[in-house]
Parts: sequence; structure tokens; C-alpha cells
Amino acid sequence: MVKIVKDNVASLRAKSKPVEMPLSEKDKHTLDEMLEYLHLSQDEEYRKKHPSCREGVGLAAPQIGVNKRMLVISYDVYDEDGNSEKIEYQLVNPKIVVNSVRKCYLASGEGCLSVDEEHPGRAYRDFKIVVEAYDALVGENRRITARGFDAIVLQHEIDHLDGILFYDRIDPKNPNKEIPGAVAI
Ligand code: CO
Repeated sequence: MVKIVKDNVASLRAKSKPVEMPLSEKDKHTLDEMLEYLHLSQDEEYRKKHPSCREGVGLAAPQIGVNKRMLVISYDVYDEDGNSEKIEYQLVNPKIVVNSVRKCYLASGEGCLSVDEEHPGRAYRDFKIVVEAYDALVGENRRITARGFDAIVLQHEIDHLDGILFYDRIDPKNPNKEIPGAVAI
């Protein structure tokens, strides 16, 4: 079982190294363990038995003490008819190749499995991004276009690979600063 590194540990603030390709068995195994942890974190019964485990939608390798550029994401999205779609990736060496000028922020505030304290305020993100990465879940390179919540999650996780935490993006002098045209998600 993986152990989550908290934000008092220096390695969480380090810039992670690119993953050597082709992907090694060991790195694929790490990604599988990370995804398994996310799935468990989304299981209410599991959380009842393990109170230190909080529900997450994304996890980056530095958060389990591996300073390599890889991350996992898993959550369900629902349309107005109640149909669900699973958003799930095991991304290796992700790069943001396109980003919008338009900003957005999570109205309820962002959270992070590595951050136990509350950090209220707006962490502004780009509303739309395009990410290129190898996705070990499908075994192919892919180009992901993401908007709104999907874009926020990807940017949050990619930030971890550069040692950046969500609260670094909140203006300490004016945490609820308005940015004209920014979309509340
Ligand atoms: Co995080």
C-alpha cells in the first residue's frame, strides 16, 4: 500500500525527473498502485476503516515519494440524463501544449491528499488546456483536451511534478481576488 507524503516533506517541493521510455515494469507497477489507492479512497467502507484516507480524484507520483513525472486521475462525470463516464488516466511525462487565456477556479476551493490544513481562496487555473502524454492505462500517447473541472484536476496534478501546491496559486494578500471573465466551476 502506498503512503501519502504530506506538504511538510521537502521531496514534495522538488521538481520531478522525466520518466524513461519505454515505460519499465516498475514504473507501470507504481502507476497501478497509485490508481488502486485512488479507487480505495473513493470507497466509503474503506475510508471508514482507514480514517486517515481521504477521497481523491488525482494522485501524482511525488505524493507517494517517487519524484518521477507521472500521475493518475480517476473520477466519474455525469450528464443531465444521469449517464456517467469514467475519466481515468495513468499519465507519463505529461506536457501542457495549449492553454487558454481565460481562467477558472473551483468555487468550493481545491483540496489535496498531501495537504491536511484548510487553505481557503481561489486557485486560478487556465479554463482550457491541451495535454500530451503517454497514457499507461491504454499503452499509447494521447492528446487530451480538457475544460473546467477536468482542466483544473490535470493542472493540479501536473503542478505536483514541479513541486507546486494548490495554495501557492492563491494570492496570500487577497485570497478571493476577482479576475474578470474567470469561470467559477
Ligand atoms: Co494534490
